Amino acid sequence: MGKSKSKSKRKPIPLVRPLKSRKLARTITTQFHVLTHARSSLPPSATAELKEIDDKLEELGGRKSYQEASQLNTSVFSTSKWVVGRLGAMGILEGKVLEETSTKKPKKLKRRPISVLEVGCINTQLQDASRKPGVRMNVRSIDLRSTSSQVEVADFNALPIEEEEERYDAIVCSMVINCVPTAVSRGEMLTRLRRFTKVGGVVFLMLPLMCVNRSKYLDKPGFTGMLEDLKFEVREVKETPKILFYTLIKKEGDVFIKPQWRKVKERKGGGGKKYTGNEFAVCFEEAAVEGGGEVKKGTNNEGG
Ligand SMILES: C[S@@+](CC[C@H](N)C(=O)[O-])C[C@H]1O[C@@H](n2cnc3c(N)ncnc32)[C@H](O)[C@@H]1O
Repeated sequence: MGKSKSKSKRKPIPLVRPLKSRKLARTITTQFHVLTHARSSLPPSATAELKEIDDKLEELGGRKSYQEASQLNTSVFSTSKWVVGRLGAMGILEGKVLEETSTKKPKKLKRRPISVLEVGCINTQLQDASRKPGVRMNVRSIDLRSTSSQVEVADFNALPIEEEEERYDAIVCSMVINCVPTAVSRGEMLTRLRRFTKVGGVVFLMLPLMCVNRSKYLDKPGFTGMLEDLKFEVREVKETPKILFYTLIKKEGDVFIKPQWRKVKERKGGGGKKYTGNEFAVCFEEAAVEGGGEVKKGTNNEGG
């Protein structure tokens, strides 16, 4: 009798257990990247190979499982908390001052809410922060797959440029560029981060440190140089043992991309043991960067 009572009190075992191991989570995200990146290098005619990859992705649990693994991977550090802290330090969390020259006390100044775009959103932390008293920001969150009613399904690299041009005071792009499958689409993403931000606006860009310190193609000074070529002021670079955080301010003016960033080339020592662990590369294709007429070839002295 006593036995059956304790049995009935036992919690039911879920069919799909929530992911708890960070090691397993890292394996899932790495596998997902390897498969999606391999998939993007195949032509549509390679039906057998594409099917094989799709089956493997399904076995892994697809984007849902990938997002759950990412949630666990990033749970130790709240990117949103850090972003909110930076916006607060910049004095724009309570909105942007409309009359810059006013002599009124800071609290009395007229402000408009800031517009924020969160790219690749797997939690509602930033949305939640926007509803806190005193905070004046309108957050739009997008992802290829939505995990909440507050997240819109949209591909950042497919948003209509004319509608998005200089629309946001801040864009948060945390751990997304490393998921984008090709060097050209990463170049496209960086170009769009610039285009969609207002002049003087801020881009918070985060990526795994290994993308720039273990890659065959790119090192940190090179990646930072690309961001500077895109006419971003690199306001702050923060590094944890695993993640690189950039705070970038959009400067006014034409963009000159150096010719070296228009093709993917192994860096010196790239064939060596040290740099074989990562394939991260960024490439600015003529068509992609010159779409808006604002990015020019680096053929003059400024561009090198
Ligand atoms: C590694 S998770 C990072 C999530 C979150 N930003 C963070 O820092 O914890 C990457 C997310 O970006 C999304 N993503 C990848 N490419 C995207 C794109 N082109 N447009 C929108 N979201 C994208 C993925 O679906 C995934 O949910």
